[in-house]
Amino acid sequence: MSVFAAIHTPSNPSDFAPRVVEYNRREFDFPRIVAEILHEPDLQSIVGAEYARFTRETDQSTIYHKSFYMQFEALMGDLYRRFVSHMSDRVFGDVEVYHQAVPTFRVQFPNNLGVAEMHKDSDYRHQNGELNFWVPLTPVWGSNTIWVEASRGGHNYQPWTLKPGQVLVFDSVNWRHGNITNTTGRARVSFDFRMIPAEKFIDAGEISVSAHKRMSVGDYWEATCQD
Ligand SMILES: [Fe+2]
Repeated sequence: MSVFAAIHTPSNPSDFAPRVVEYNRREFDFPRIVAEILHEPDLQSIVGAEYARFTRETDQSTIYHKSFYMQFEALMGDLYRRFVSHMSDRVFGDVEVYHQAVPTFRVQFPNNLGVAEMHKDSDYRHQNGELNFWVPLTPVWGSNTIWVEASRGGHNYQPWTLKPGQVLVFDSVNWRHGNITNTTGRARVSFDFRMIPAEKFIDAGEISVSAHKRMSVGDYWEATCQD
């Protein structure tokens, strides 16, 4: 059982407004581990000048993405699962939950995008009941961060100013989000993952657009260990 009360167990995902959850940065030192994986001691200084403006087809295609996914399990898998359990406890409380088995890695170079378009995840076969946990590994602000609608369906995007130790939790299935061209001069590195209470999960036999996995428990999804 958690010492925290669950902040919200959404019965209707459209009721779930974006919010920030804090965690112990020293206990979950993802910036250090990802810097090691990428061989980049200062994540904010990654330039990526060789990459053209990303499209939907290319925004997961850099050498950094390849390094992250290749080394994720060996260098970060156990800590990630502990983190997911912790977040599950904080947000959903004492219910059975599934999480995205491998988080999605993002990098937004200066003068480029991190994801190619504003969208909502229901456009990509995601289902109601999922929440998105967006984890910055660098300080993020203005044009190097995620922009999310200020109200669901409003197309009124606003940037989230965050730092390592904070997670943006939001309903990415129904609230549009994305980014704009990064003019801050500093790179953004982040990862994100989704969680869904087991009772809301429906296995519709879909294939994930970005991860190319079946969206089933044991493939895209994994059962979350309770703390
Ligand atoms: Fe998304």
